[in-house]
Amino acid sequence: MGMLLLNAGWFAHISPDAATTPLTGDAMGDRDSLLHEPGYGLLIEDDLIQSVAPSEELLAEHAPSVILSDGGPPTSLGRHSAHEVFDLAGRAVVPGLVDAHTHLLWAGDRSHEASLRSQGYSYRQISEMGGGIGFTVRCTREATQEQLVSEGERRLSLSMDHGTTFIEAKSGYGLDTKSELALLKAADTLARSAASPPMRHTWLGAHATPPAEEGDGRTEERRRAAYVDEMLAEQLPAVLEQGIADSVDVFCEPGWFTLEETEDICRAGADGGLQVRLHVDEFQDGGGAALAAELGSRTADHAAWSDVEGRASCARAGTLQGFLPGTPHVLGSDHWPPIRECRDNNWPWTLASDFNPNCDSLSLPFSANLAVTRCGVDPLEALVACTRNAASGMDHPSGLQAGVLRPGATASLNILGGGQVDEWCRTSGESPFIATLVEGRWHRSL
Ligand code: NIG
Ligand code: FE
Repeated sequence: MGMLLLNAGWFAHISPDAATTPLTGDAMGDRDSLLHEPGYGLLIEDDLIQSVAPSEELLAEHAPSVILSDGGPPTSLGRHSAHEVFDLAGRAVVPGLVDAHTHLLWAGDRSHEASLRSQGYSYRQISEMGGGIGFTVRCTREATQEQLVSEGERRLSLSMDHGTTFIEAKSGYGLDTKSELALLKAADTLARSAASPPMRHTWLGAHATPPAEEGDGRTEERRRAAYVDEMLAEQLPAVLEQGIADSVDVFCEPGWFTLEETEDICRAGADGGLQVRLHVDEFQDGGGAALAAELGSRTADHAAWSDVEGRASCARAGTLQGFLPGTPHVLGSDHWPPIRECRDNNWPWTLASDFNPNCDSLSLPFSANLAVTRCGVDPLEALVACTRNAASGMDHPSGLQAGVLRPGATASLNILGGGQVDEWCRTSGESPFIATLVEGRWHRSL
């Protein structure tokens, strides 16, 4: 059965043309070309948007007997011939959000690290003290597959509550072949469930050096070199054989994986058919952005300290700078993502949640709220970053266009509580959305 959503408020189609490329510069905030005025509607059939047009036109063609309300709350008007009709009563509509950087699956609780930070310890120091990624790895290895999947279901539902309709999930808290495969398999199980949004899977075996076993007297450097060899000889081949990852990612950062190690792992992954996505320059500039460009990475994520030349080379290579403002927020840093430079230089950029045990938020409206309040970004630019632009760096499993509302695109969208699009990232807490459609099915209905 089809669906008619009529009588919208402001309508963010984010699609001035049929291109799937990311928008840049002033085009990201151009209201005239990215929004329809109030009164538009959509026709949806199966999981596809068939038409976006003024409500009267859609009504005349598909449900001429329906009379829309003048005021009142959004409501279902029931079934009319082949369509269920909804009166949005002036509520704004935006595309389904695309969260292209999450560490979805892990176990354990790192809340004690906030206290350590308040005592002045840095992320690196906490990790050297046995906290950070290593702590989560120990907890995750103890979790059963059922626990990982059931917690994953809860998290995916929470992310859809906040408007996400297409999501990336990284491994990276196993750090040995068996445990990394278990994480990727749990994500694969989740992706097969009808209740999940479409997903993409990233192997992040190179997230950290595995925690040292008792009595292992090797330096961190020697252990890391041995782990890189193990990943190349055993872990990556197993991941490729199982066919449960689309991309390879490395935490390329001084103190974690070097440029050379990153390059070896990414080239081996790419040879095996994986796309590349990278964590670069989160705490200091280690040349990661330039390497991301050289490797043709889809993303250079964090890019918080990357130099201007490296960032310019990303733009030339078509590598998206993926900003994750939730991370400096939880770390209490005042070094906010350098987003304005992207606008000024017409460099393509995105926003994502970076959901992880340290940055425990699956809300893209919250990430965008930080971008707006801390980085001088316009709410519409932030919306483009989390929709069309994020989708341009992560192929939708169906092959359809995502992150825009135009005929032929996947039928995922959010309905706001009020009539203005900018409301989408006004709150930092509760979800601003009253209803969310994921691939033509309601996650939360009107
Ligand atoms: O993207 N920096 C590397 N990975 C995560 C944090 C992982 C963790 O602290 O558990 C990130 O911020
Ligand atoms: Fe991350």
